[in-house]
Amino acid sequence: MFSRALLLGSLLSASLVAGQGVGSYQTETHPKLTWSQCSGTGGTSCKSVSGEVVIDANWRWLHVKGDYKNCYDGNKWDSTNCADNSKCASNCVVEGADYSATYGITTSSNALTLKFVTKGSYSTNIGSRTYLMKDSSSYQMFNLVGNEFTFDVDVSKLPCGLNGALYFVVMDAKGQGTPGAKYGTGYCDGQCPRDLKFINGKANAEGWKPSSNDQNAGVGAKGSCCAEMDVWEANSVSTALTPHSCSPVTFSECQGENCGGTYSETRYAGPCDPNGCDFNPYRLGVTDFYGKGKTVDTSKKFTVVTQFIGSGSNLSEIKRYYVQDGKVIENPQPKTAGITGNSITQDWCDAENKANKEDVYPFKDHGGLANMGQGMAKGMVLVMSLWDDHYANMLWLDSTYPTDKDASFPGAARGDCATSSGVPADLESKEASSQVIYSNIKFGPVGSTFKQP
Ligand SMILES: *[C@@H]1O[C@H](CO)[C@@H](O)[C@H](O)[C@H]1NC(C)=O
Repeated sequence: MFSRALLLGSLLSASLVAGQGVGSYQTETHPKLTWSQCSGTGGTSCKSVSGEVVIDANWRWLHVKGDYKNCYDGNKWDSTNCADNSKCASNCVVEGADYSATYGITTSSNALTLKFVTKGSYSTNIGSRTYLMKDSSSYQMFNLVGNEFTFDVDVSKLPCGLNGALYFVVMDAKGQGTPGAKYGTGYCDGQCPRDLKFINGKANAEGWKPSSNDQNAGVGAKGSCCAEMDVWEANSVSTALTPHSCSPVTFSECQGENCGGTYSETRYAGPCDPNGCDFNPYRLGVTDFYGKGKTVDTSKKFTVVTQFIGSGSNLSEIKRYYVQDGKVIENPQPKTAGITGNSITQDWCDAENKANKEDVYPFKDHGGLANMGQGMAKGMVLVMSLWDDHYANMLWLDSTYPTDKDASFPGAARGDCATSSGVPADLESKEASSQVIYSNIKFGPVGSTFKQP
């Protein structure tokens, strides 16, 4: 079948711009998702914006051009077609997505549902990562400084070990190389991920090591770094609000163990802060605030409001409110000795780092909150995902971590989940029907998206 995108893709990859072509077995049709742009005050002046979502390129079928043969199968690259990175780009194409049947991704007006395990005809899909788009070929860009981002979330079907994450990263509006944002390319984050199959339009096949405990993933020789603002990382047990600084704030490619982060043995060797400055109420000693039947009751939907106080690229404070059953709930005051304040500022992060007796402080080393503000001013892409954790079983979010620390050590206890929970193989078999729903996204100047008390 003739496709303009395919022709364009192959012409470009043969010439200057890096990338790969697209397959023609499945037309790429992005699910539509509306959101609201607000002005004025109190959420009374919001207008609907027509957007769409795209799944990240890493989840897509990568196969030989004009053939059903896999270029990447399970967690390995095809040794012939992807003998090296450039062969791989010229021999292989990335395929369109059947969002619902293959990936368990559906939308309905302003709501996005991501299912955890989806058994398709040819594959079993685990989780997903999606981006909000402005149109079919570009991501929606947000500058958060001076603004407020609000959304509703239903985490009631997210048990220990899963993470329904809504966050922002400093990606390029057009993605990277061909086929660009339309196929969900260009991801980067504060962990400098090395599990990406394509980085900056080139394959990451050379030096790839298949994972020992993830049948779909591996780690390549290259990683993809940029600053990350985790507005929401949560399940029904725990939640965290976490900026991750990075120098530079924009995309940079890293090599091997020099990437640092989750995917490297040398966690702090990279250009980004893999730990972040996190506001997790439970970790701050407020154990009755968030969870099923608690102050913010995660057995039903609620609204999450995040305010980014500042102007230009000067971010001074990150504030959080919740709204549930018509009631506005303030973020709680920490109970940990030495930490005061229910919002994130640079001083607050310094106090948390000290109170928790951390022996490293990568957030500050990479520029802290000021750096995060600079990242925001570059424009960030909204990511909505659902994932399980093959590296640390998500214990850093919802259990006691590191697991050898006593739960009474400041900052060690992060949630009620057992230290034996969160094992991906268990979750994928026993909690397959888990899901997260993000809806009713509103964005505008501080005070414009909801009625602030
Ligand atoms: C950033 O904003 C804060 C709060 O308004 C102000 O105190 C500070 O001087 C500003 N910093 C810069 C570098 O402009």
